[in-house]
Amino acid sequence: MSTAEPPTDLMERIVALAKRRGFIFPSSEIYGGLNGFFDYGPLGVELKKNIRDCWWNDMVRRRDDIVGLESSIIMHPKVWEASGHVAGFTDPLVDCKASKQRYRADQLFFAAVVVDGDNDPQIVANLVSKGALTQTLAEAWRSQNMPIYGFVSALESERTKDELQDKADQFKRKWSIKGMLRPVKASDMTEAKPEEIPLIPSPATGEPGSLTPPRAFNMMFETYVGALRDDSAKSYLRPETAQGMFVDFKNVVDTGRVKLPFGIAQIGKSFRNEITPRNFIFRSREFEQMEMEYFIHEDADWDKCHKEWIEWCRQWLLSIGLPESHLSLYAHPKEKLAFYSKGTVDIMFKYPFGVQELWGIAARGNYDLSQHAKASGKPMEIFDEATKKKFVPHVIEPAVGVDRILLAVLCAGYAEDEAPDEKGKLEKRTVLRLSPRLAPVKVAVFPLIKNKEALTKRAEELYLKLKRKYAAFYDEAGNIGKRYRRQDEIGTPWCVTIDFETVEKDGTFTLRDRDTMQQRRIHEAELFALLEEKVY
Ligand code: GAP
Repeated sequence: MSTAEPPTDLMERIVALAKRRGFIFPSSEIYGGLNGFFDYGPLGVELKKNIRDCWWNDMVRRRDDIVGLESSIIMHPKVWEASGHVAGFTDPLVDCKASKQRYRADQLFFAAVVVDGDNDPQIVANLVSKGALTQTLAEAWRSQNMPIYGFVSALESERTKDELQDKADQFKRKWSIKGMLRPVKASDMTEAKPEEIPLIPSPATGEPGSLTPPRAFNMMFETYVGALRDDSAKSYLRPETAQGMFVDFKNVVDTGRVKLPFGIAQIGKSFRNEITPRNFIFRSREFEQMEMEYFIHEDADWDKCHKEWIEWCRQWLLSIGLPESHLSLYAHPKEKLAFYSKGTVDIMFKYPFGVQELWGIAARGNYDLSQHAKASGKPMEIFDEATKKKFVPHVIEPAVGVDRILLAVLCAGYAEDEAPDEKGKLEKRTVLRLSPRLAPVKVAVFPLIKNKEALTKRAEELYLKLKRKYAAFYDEAGNIGKRYRRQDEIGTPWCVTIDFETVEKDGTFTLRDRDTMQQRRIHEAELFALLEEKVY
């Protein structure tokens, strides 16, 4: 942005641009949309494909130790039993009975309103009569020197704590409670005690009494395979692509000429019935994953390998243009890891709505392969020539969402600055500073004016030649300034203009750079050399 601080409505501006320029539309929009589903428009599919292609080229084609796979989306239901998804792929769900809204319990926060001072029995009686407090709890808390008057709640956001503090202050004023309000201590609904739940206000209504205790909600979409609609035909849309790599592990080993350490990579759709899809495409119900299972010897230094993968993934994100300042690492605390997990580190990205997980890199031991060996009865071992022993390989799993990368790229690339118009007057411009590797259009070709055949002929000729290798765009409508603005807004790194000098003199044309807005004259060969260097 031209200003030091990004605008508070940055996310709205990005969503508006994505819609206006055909990157992303709400799914089934003419029917009112479907929450958690999105469509990628003409420029969106190009951007998404470029992300996938960069990942695939760098991850699979340019490495000798990784092979690809495309497994089916619907797999045998036993896959999901063995992997633990049927029993445990759940999120804690809280219902509001009054509004029919649903919340993820770990995203719904509450805090007690604690006010030091004399406890006015009249106020307590009032609160009890309105359901905001119970006499028993009020007395119990007071005796523990915790003069609690009720609870406030807020949904997870960058401002959760401030919002709870503001609401506690409003609560105190509303009920004319005298004394000093203590700073709030936020907890999420998974930590609420049963006797507290009826007193916590629903974020939808602001009133207590309608929230249910959290219950486990399985996020897998169910479907039926074949004509019968009974339990024997029940299966699932995959919630991750990873299981395909474990289930096909032996097939790849037996046919792929692979030797440890090696990886199997897959890109594909995954589906999760998220309780609260939100933040545009950040958390949706249908999304795309790029996952890798990197198999290592059971005695290998997993920690070293894990660290190498974290750094590799971080470097890859930098290579597609994400700024280092927006990336950070988050190591999951040991006590929150699954029993088999050796460690998980997330690469976090600073989105306009907060710092959030972009890429998870997990060291999963040999849990997954062992589970499938147990459940299917098919061995998943590898023979070690050196020790003459069989063992089940361990795995490092870097897993990232294409849509989350795309959103990060849009957020980091979006900028507003000023550019001179035809008469040199500065006007506002919106620009997407996308890496040339990702930009949906790499180069736009303009004839200076459209009614001079010599210019349009040469421009079209260059455009057709470019198009054989690169995504190019031809535009002759409107003044040059407007044509530049249109390309800036969709992230086209370069525009070339064919003018009279091109056709009458030395064949050179102007190359205009999106970010510096500087122009220089170049020959066709230089343009191709530039594209060859930057677009790979
Ligand atoms: N196999 C491991 C696995 O699936 P995960 O952390 O649940 O791990 C991996 O998902 C990545 O997939 C996340 O880091 C994120 O980038 C992406 N992802 C997960 N759920 C998503 C959702 N509902 N919408 C968009 N992307 C999602």
